[in-house]
Amino acid sequence: MKQIDKINFETKEQLYKYMNIKLTGLLGSEDDWLANLSNASALLWLLLDDINWAGFYLYRKGKLILGPFQGKPACVNIEVGNGVCGTAAQSRQTQLVKNVHDFPGHIACDSASNSEIVVPIIKDDKLIGVLDIDAPILNRFDENDQKGLEKFVNTMNKYMKWEDII
Ligand code: SME
Repeated sequence: MKQIDKINFETKEQLYKYMNIKLTGLLGSEDDWLANLSNASALLWLLLDDINWAGFYLYRKGKLILGPFQGKPACVNIEVGNGVCGTAAQSRQTQLVKNVHDFPGHIACDSASNSEIVVPIIKDDKLIGVLDIDAPILNRFDENDQKGLEKFVNTMNKYMKWEDII
């Protein structure tokens, strides 16, 4: 595997384009879901500035269960409908939260978090889980991040064999 380096881009569009190319390279050469989710969380952690958590919750046994991530140890179970992650899973809509303290029911796994984005992972109309990223600064995420991260999830959906998740 060729080493992936952090590059400082002028625009978020350039950053997410680079990220997507690297994600495709990682996922295209392996089909193990655990390896791929682990590398996907590491890629987000490497390339995104000003974040304190990046990873996945997987929809298993009727709730969201912690998956591969980078950052501090986090809540293991989240009910669908609870917190930012559970809201994204239930509504099937990306939650772009500029200030988590204003979000009713926000679950604080790391007290350093001030803003958050959660993208639901839906494949063939089935809820697979969510991608969750937390930031220590307010207003960390905007519509460009949303677009880039929704693309990230689309690429994951293209390559991941979710049916293998046990
Ligand atoms: N803040 C999330 C919980 C997960 S942690 O951020 C890793 C939420 O409200 O759902």
